[in-house]
Amino acid sequence: MILIIDFGSQYNQLIARRVREHHVYCQIEPPDIDIEKIKSLHPEGIILSGGPASIYENSSPKVDKGIFDLGIPVLGICYGMQYTVDALGGEVIGAEKREYGFAELSIKDPSGIFYGIEKETRCWMSHGDSAGRLPKGFKVTASTPNTAIAAVENSEKRFYGLQFHPEVIHTPQGKKMMGNFLFRICKCRKSWTMKSFIREATEEIRSQVGNGHVILGLSGGVDSSVAALLLHRAVGNHLTCVFVDNGLLRQGEAKRVRDLFRRYFKVNLRFVDARRQFLQELKGVLDPERKRRIIGRIFVDVFEREARNIEGAGFLAQGTLYPDIIESRSAFGGPSAVIKTHHNVGGLPRKMKLKLIEPLKHLFKDEVRLLGKELGLPDDLIWRQPFPGPGLAVRIIGEVSASRLALLRKVDTILLEEIKAHNLYRSLWQSFAILLPLKSVGIMGDQRTYENIVAIRAVTSEDAMTADWAKLPHILLARISNRIINEVRGVNRVVYDISSKPPSTIEWE
Ligand code: XMP
Repeated sequence: MILIIDFGSQYNQLIARRVREHHVYCQIEPPDIDIEKIKSLHPEGIILSGGPASIYENSSPKVDKGIFDLGIPVLGICYGMQYTVDALGGEVIGAEKREYGFAELSIKDPSGIFYGIEKETRCWMSHGDSAGRLPKGFKVTASTPNTAIAAVENSEKRFYGLQFHPEVIHTPQGKKMMGNFLFRICKCRKSWTMKSFIREATEEIRSQVGNGHVILGLSGGVDSSVAALLLHRAVGNHLTCVFVDNGLLRQGEAKRVRDLFRRYFKVNLRFVDARRQFLQELKGVLDPERKRRIIGRIFVDVFEREARNIEGAGFLAQGTLYPDIIESRSAFGGPSAVIKTHHNVGGLPRKMKLKLIEPLKHLFKDEVRLLGKELGLPDDLIWRQPFPGPGLAVRIIGEVSASRLALLRKVDTILLEEIKAHNLYRSLWQSFAILLPLKSVGIMGDQRTYENIVAIRAVTSEDAMTADWAKLPHILLARISNRIINEVRGVNRVVYDISSKPPSTIEWE
């Protein structure tokens, strides 16, 4: 495995992605990680990430210098290189101005990290400080017109430094450089595959659970579904999944999940029909945050009640992913952690005194999809667009009622049929409809109508933190509008949402 020390770079997850794309397992850890813990991880190599700090700031992040005495190769990227130079007795020069963007890299020594790479290539720079005097045993291996010391190495100790960012796509040979570090320098093997992951994860789950019993809240989304199948593979009947039908799901969704997991995968599934309770408590509620709180609370109640009836349940499994974990503990924070707690149903483990199992906590979303495929999940579930916990309730502005839910489901079904028919489903982050608490005048046949308005929202995004409204073809918009107005009684107007996030959010409530 490769250990990545997180000095706070916006690119540190990309470094991890690049390493894993080479089928080498890696883990990101904060700089204050204990040296003993590092030793216990037995890394084949250590990568020090970039970061926004300057080595000259008192508060700049530091990792135990003992890493340079372990006899393990170290690759410092940007701040990580400056840290290496400084820590080993060299000198870093404070910059007057930042260098940002493409630079032409001239390689002087193509033997180490630059093996097999053309002498002149492009790289992506984003730094202020740079290396000045080098520590003993180091030499310069590449430079750019603005940065004389763009790459360094101490080949005897196997320490390498890159001032630029090999992990971003703007450094076209970056992947190859990472490969050289992993295979030529660290001698890693390509052992990180989903098959090997399944083998190791199931063994670990088995030894953790022993003869105990695991419960898992199944939502029908990708993460909880994959977690369910992985656990099922590991402990079989010692897993019980709980699916709460809150009545706020899409057309046919509850039945689909039930059929797939119960009939097809033969997973123990408790199917709780709580539709009445949710609807009743949402009666008369207009405020979006109140809606969310009510839904969250009922979910916890229902889930707890159900879980108590499951004999001997000692573990709670969740489909938490790696980015959630890194973001919530990152030394440099970021607003994401706050937004997530708002979105997720928390509080279960603490209240229920169950031990937590998070078998996907080292995986990225696309790895979870690969894993799902390996475990036999159907494509349409693997590629499902995200669907919010509070479901259609946050897509019905104003009061949620059975009739408004039924209306929105019909609209939503048509929308998705058309998006899929135009082959856009996967390239859109989300596409959905919102029912507005407004009526407008229309004409149908010779009759005046006074009916509901629905809005269509379709966005592209990488991670839901920012999103752009999708430029859907007019011909598709026309067809969606036409079908909805013709086929769904009670709608006489369709509008398209052309706002990006920020300043708007993806969901309307
Ligand atoms: P916003 O509306 O904040 O949404 O731009 C960002 C992403 O999060 C999803 N979302 C939720 N997911 N529980 C969830 O599991 C929630 O309460 C929730 N609210 C929003 C939203 O669909 C989008 O993908």
